[in-house]
Amino acid sequence: MSQYLVTGCAGFIGWRVSEFLLKEGHKVIGVDEINSAYDIQLKEWRLNTLMGYSNFIFQKLNLADPVKLSQLFEDYPISAVIHLAARAGVRQSLENPWIYVESNITATLNLLELMRKRGISKMVLASTSSVYAGQKPPYHEDLKVDTPLSPYAATKKSAELLAYTYHHLYDLDITVVRYFTVYGPAGRPDMSILRFIKWILEGKPIEIYGDGTQSRDFTYIDDIAQGTILALKPLGYEIINLGGGRNPISVNRVIELLEDLIGKRAIKNYKDFHKADVRVTWAEIEKAKRLLSWEPEVTLEEGLRRTVQWALENEDLIKRIQI
Ligand code: UGA
Repeated sequence: MSQYLVTGCAGFIGWRVSEFLLKEGHKVIGVDEINSAYDIQLKEWRLNTLMGYSNFIFQKLNLADPVKLSQLFEDYPISAVIHLAARAGVRQSLENPWIYVESNITATLNLLELMRKRGISKMVLASTSSVYAGQKPPYHEDLKVDTPLSPYAATKKSAELLAYTYHHLYDLDITVVRYFTVYGPAGRPDMSILRFIKWILEGKPIEIYGDGTQSRDFTYIDDIAQGTILALKPLGYEIINLGGGRNPISVNRVIELLEDLIGKRAIKNYKDFHKADVRVTWAEIEKAKRLLSWEPEVTLEEGLRRTVQWALENEDLIKRIQI
């Protein structure tokens, strides 16, 4: 059994990846700074579920602090790093871009440096479909991605580049996974699906940025968590899309599906399209199939059904969280 460092373990993807690893019997050293990028009640809810596992160790830590991070590496032998901690808001990243540089670039550099010094070779690094802005979908990993539309996307692309440099210089084995709009139970309350569910349940108007025809290749959390774990395989340096790989679905269509599942009509409030938003995301997933034998299994209809069911089972929490 291995001992993995999972950064951002109270975050949406970090939580689910940790849970899968713990169920497989691995040890997980989970770190998270529990910042207030979005309502921490959800992070606490996720963390609580992990605390029930005896093979889980939690450390509250800001990865941008090299001294504390170094101590963590001193305290625990680590077989691989799954680096999922990040500031991840596309539109929010315009408000305080500096914090995106600190969380997404400096923190990644600190981890890479410590891995180099301590001879830890494997990192799985979370990246984003947002880097494909301006390209013609479906997005293949070989496309040139030099026109990010948000500080968030720019910092993620920077982290990918730093990771490549550390692979080249020090032979670190790094798999960059580019996620495509991940959703599911206990998802992020700053993202569309949880916000839409909360607003429909509460009978409040849904804020739609633009006319709702923008589309996403939504990917269910469990598929993403499995793909992330498969990406621990030694590969040198690879960038791999983890996405639904189907025709992208418009925001308007997602709302219709949620209305049917919840059994209630949404009140729609159309606002301006956001300049940092991409119009469409759509993953080419041949590389994930070939290198990781990975393919998403959960359809959008089924994933939304599970998400709504979770929200109904946790309606008190959904009501309490601020979005
Ligand atoms: C999401 C995540 O926030 C990023 O962390 C991630 O890297 C990215 O997906 C990705 O996978 O590449 P985003 O595409 O903005 O970013 O996801 P949502 O928040 O679910 O938004 C989807 C669409 O719905 C966007 O066009 C957005 O403008 C729209 N939206 C979102 C609304 O119309 N209203 C809302 O209240 C929220």
